[in-house]
Amino acid sequence: MRILQLSCHLSLNCVHVTNDNITTPHNTNNMDSVAAELMDLLHTANNHEDVVKCYSGIAETFDKIQEALAYVGAKNGVKKCLEIGEVPKTARILDIGAGTGIVGEMLQSMGYENLDALDGCQELLEKSRERNCYRNLFCSFVVPDAELPVEKKAYDLVVMPGVVYPAHILPTAFGQVIKVVKKGGLISWDMMVGQPEAYQKDIGVMFREENFEKYVNSYVDEGLWELVGKYDITFVERPSASLNENAVCYIMRVLK
Ligand SMILES: C[S@@+](CC[C@H](N)C(=O)[O-])C[C@H]1O[C@@H](n2cnc3c(N)ncnc32)[C@H](O)[C@@H]1O
Repeated sequence: MRILQLSCHLSLNCVHVTNDNITTPHNTNNMDSVAAELMDLLHTANNHEDVVKCYSGIAETFDKIQEALAYVGAKNGVKKCLEIGEVPKTARILDIGAGTGIVGEMLQSMGYENLDALDGCQELLEKSRERNCYRNLFCSFVVPDAELPVEKKAYDLVVMPGVVYPAHILPTAFGQVIKVVKKGGLISWDMMVGQPEAYQKDIGVMFREENFEKYVNSYVDEGLWELVGKYDITFVERPSASLNENAVCYIMRVLK
């Protein structure tokens, strides 16, 4: 119930900030508070339905909120993976948790054209369609016990930018992601390190470093993937109470 009420409030703010005066200091301050409010909301979300309600309420201003959060972790993580993995321009890439397509647009500008998007929030996917960078859009949650609605063993690379997070994609769902990647293909994601607020709550327990590594290694033990590397990246250009400055980018190679 709280989620629903606050979503409405965010939507009202969105109407206010999408006017032509968006760049005025007054509105910029407003956007900062909308961004902070979104993070508070996400920290109280307990399930995917709550999370999607948060995101669908802010579809129109999502990009401005990302800017207000100074969030660069998604792009930095994907760039690191392309560099380390020497990913060819012909690679078939699935952007999971694609949101409004910010990462797809970056990939397209770098010469990658064989791109698909998957996200649990239809409203954000519709915004990503406007960017014209994806061939196929799939609306689906990534969850541990349901297969993804995409071709199996089809992708050279899956990126999950800004979506491996409490109440978003859990490490227990990685097995479903592995199923859609070719043998020898890569999976990459960025995530905050240290003790960000979201990891301190019960819902964030599996993201604390000692626990998270156990989940990643359980797929190593099954022979499903291996670690290519874990790289430090900048997560936000302006640290806040909600978001740590530092993050890591994981790059895994699928073995089967
Ligand atoms: C913080 S946004 C990141 C969006 C985009 N990757 C970017 O960096 O701009 C998280 C996105 O993941 C989606 N999402 C959250 N949990 C998901 C899940 N379990 N399966 C699929 N998408 C999910 C949300 O709808 C939202 O679009």
